[in-house]
Amino acid sequence: MNATLTSTDLRADILALKKERNAVILAHNYQNAEIQEIADYVGDSLGLSFRAQETEADVIAFCGVHFMAETAKIINPEKTVVLPDANAGCSLEDSCPAEDLGAFLKENAEKNYYVVTYINSSAAVKALSDVICTSGNAVRIVEAAPTDRPILFVPDQNLGSWVSQQTGREMEFWNGNCYVHVEFTRESIQKIKDEYPDAAVVAHPECTTAVRLLADEVCSTERMIDFCRNSPSENIIVVTEANMLHRLRRDVPGKNLIAGPTDRCACAECRYMKMNTLEKLYLCLRDLSPAVELDDAMREAAKAPIMRMLELSK
Ligand code: 13P
Ligand code: SF4
Repeated sequence: MNATLTSTDLRADILALKKERNAVILAHNYQNAEIQEIADYVGDSLGLSFRAQETEADVIAFCGVHFMAETAKIINPEKTVVLPDANAGCSLEDSCPAEDLGAFLKENAEKNYYVVTYINSSAAVKALSDVICTSGNAVRIVEAAPTDRPILFVPDQNLGSWVSQQTGREMEFWNGNCYVHVEFTRESIQKIKDEYPDAAVVAHPECTTAVRLLADEVCSTERMIDFCRNSPSENIIVVTEANMLHRLRRDVPGKNLIAGPTDRCACAECRYMKMNTLEKLYLCLRDLSPAVELDDAMREAAKAPIMRMLELSK
């Protein structure tokens, strides 16, 4: 590619390639502004899974992290699913290697766990699970879980503890977390609340309990849009990854959306989400690479708990 291409050229080239490939561009709410602006759909993990299921495109260019593109491929084995950077991982996915989960389930076979797995996990972990959930439907998924089996919630202990509080269901948690959301502290949020005493606080459930206790609303990234739109507060502190502010400021103009500690702390940017660039998006559409490839048996095993989730979320 010509190294002097401007971002206007790149955008035009991406749109031309998209047409040529009959592709759809799906982007997570944490993608940078340029990618959000060129995407056909921007949303949370649940919305993106539904879009991936519904699309009639031949190619899905997934701008998010690897497990999201992998989920789209599991649902759509016949489609080509590409992602701008194959190294865009997730600390939650890393915290639960499939071998470790498999060994734990084997050692505790007599417990007959009902394994509820957060979508931020590998296909191999999904294949060992009974049902998948996202932050947008986790409460509903756990409410529908059988009551005669103990629940093992994998891999996010913070989302798990929030769901347990919301549903009253006791469960065991895998010891994983999101390295971005656990960086927020009660003190750092309180400091901003002191500056804006009338501000409402909305936080992602991947935050720690101490932070969630300060929030007026705890929800998925997509539901943050409705919360900010409907909140009577003019000032709203948003406790999640920094790029969410782009989506929120576009969809909810007229409110003072405060990036919370993200203004003061670069750690609130997900380094994996940031790996995607317009240039890499162009290249993955041009080369149809990197593409997600999965072993058939694993894909089938991972598909069942995802389809259970989608059925339970309609
Ligand atoms: P959402 O599904 O709420 O967008 O969360 C995805 C994620 O990775 C949060 O860190
Ligand atoms: Fe994973 Fe956290 Fe990044 Fe979300 S913000 S993709 S949970 S590391």
